Amino acid sequence: MHVFLLGTAAGGGFPQWNCWCPTCRVAREDPSRAHPRSQSSIAFSADGVRWFLGNASPDVREQVATLPHAAVEGVRHVPVEGIVLTDAELDHTLGITLLREGRLLQVIATPAVVHTISDDSRVLAVTQAFATVQILEVDLGDPVPLDYRDGSSSGLTIEMKAVRGDPPRFARRDEVGHTVAAFIRDTSTGKECAFVPGCGGLGPKLLARLDQAELLLFDGTFWTDDELARLDISDRPALSMGHVPVSGVEGSLAVLSQLSCRLKVYTHINNTNPMLVEGSSERAAVEASGLIVGMDGMRFEI
Ligand code: MLT
Ligand code: MN
Ligand code: ZN
Repeated sequence: MHVFLLGTAAGGGFPQWNCWCPTCRVAREDPSRAHPRSQSSIAFSADGVRWFLGNASPDVREQVATLPHAAVEGVRHVPVEGIVLTDAELDHTLGITLLREGRLLQVIATPAVVHTISDDSRVLAVTQAFATVQILEVDLGDPVPLDYRDGSSSGLTIEMKAVRGDPPRFARRDEVGHTVAAFIRDTSTGKECAFVPGCGGLGPKLLARLDQAELLLFDGTFWTDDELARLDISDRPALSMGHVPVSGVEGSLAVLSQLSCRLKVYTHINNTNPMLVEGSSERAAVEASGLIVGMDGMRFEI
């Protein structure tokens, strides 16, 4: 299975259009020290030419242009076989509407996420005015086969586990499964990628499940719980926004460094997070613990 990091920044991108925090300043003034990043999304494929997206970001147009594909016959080619959603947040779903020219789209998500994009953000309803959207509702806990748009099997399965967090601000219900860890498995090799761009807590059950993955892509939104308050951006702690901070004794770095996954990579990194800066002490701490700070364009094969 091939896994590409298409976008590794949290909502707003890096630098964020309206932000002049210390990290965004470095990204503007000296991008070689803090590479700009587009909004959080991955692509994965069993054969290297037919791709599924993990979340559809507002930067999807530029992101899908980077995907390899087979020779195109005819005048149209849809480079996305399906879109797997880990939540209904705008940075993970607005890209669905931007793919509306695709005529036939496949969206794979939990019932909670489907309800939110149907009834609350109406991303699904708006897209359905332009395209047929086939919805595969995935119940929590059961692996489900992923098919290509033509109905043939991809050889990949998807399994969703609910994680701690809060539903999107615009969601009218707090339904179990609004935020999930997605486990993508290649049935021919048994190898698995765990994709968890939003996670508000790491309990023992989730950790044991993550440990089975060869490749772990995990929530690197904030360095500290009070990151936004310290910068006078917002009073909201990271944990109240559904993001476990990277640093600290109960932070994700300390906990994930104990897992045996071959590759552990941070993604969905907020523009304020100091680990974005090359050569920073925060970046050094991540790397010393055996984790990777994700960057757009990184490619993994498992
Ligand atoms: C999040 O990751 O918590 C959300 O994307 C926040 C937002 O959309 O503003
Ligand atoms: Mn987000
Ligand atoms: Zn910033």
